[in-house]
Amino acid sequence: MKWTKAYATGNDEVDEQHKTLFLMSDQYREALEAGQGESTYDVFLEFLSTYSKSHFSFEEECMLAHVCPVAALNKTEHCAFTKAVDKEVERFRRDGFDRSVASNLVNAIDRWLESHIGRVDVQLKSVMP
Ligand SMILES: [Fe+2]
Ligand SMILES: [Fe+2]
Repeated sequence: MKWTKAYATGNDEVDEQHKTLFLMSDQYREALEAGQGESTYDVFLEFLSTYSKSHFSFEEECMLAHVCPVAALNKTEHCAFTKAVDKEVERFRRDGFDRSVASNLVNAIDRWLESHIGRVDVQLKSVMP
């Protein structure tokens, strides 16, 4: 999936971070579809975990600073995403790479980004100066 203007939040930094999330998911999906991705799964998970957490805290601060009406909902949905990623990191450490789990994860990330950014993050636009 690609970032489009439909996901614009009115904050360039947030938008750049979203583009990076879309890009990483896309690149990893391509690797999986090419029959690769096993050796890079740990790096992908590490990136996803670290980058999403720092993006979430940046965006949460931004919503608080601009008194965005969906600030609390935003945080709740971020927590759910973080929990799901942490759970997969744990599963991977315990059981190792599983192609169908990896594929489901990428699909879930795309669905989440589309839904969350399109419904919650875009509301930043209404409060940005
Ligand atoms: Fe968000
Ligand atoms: Fe976001």
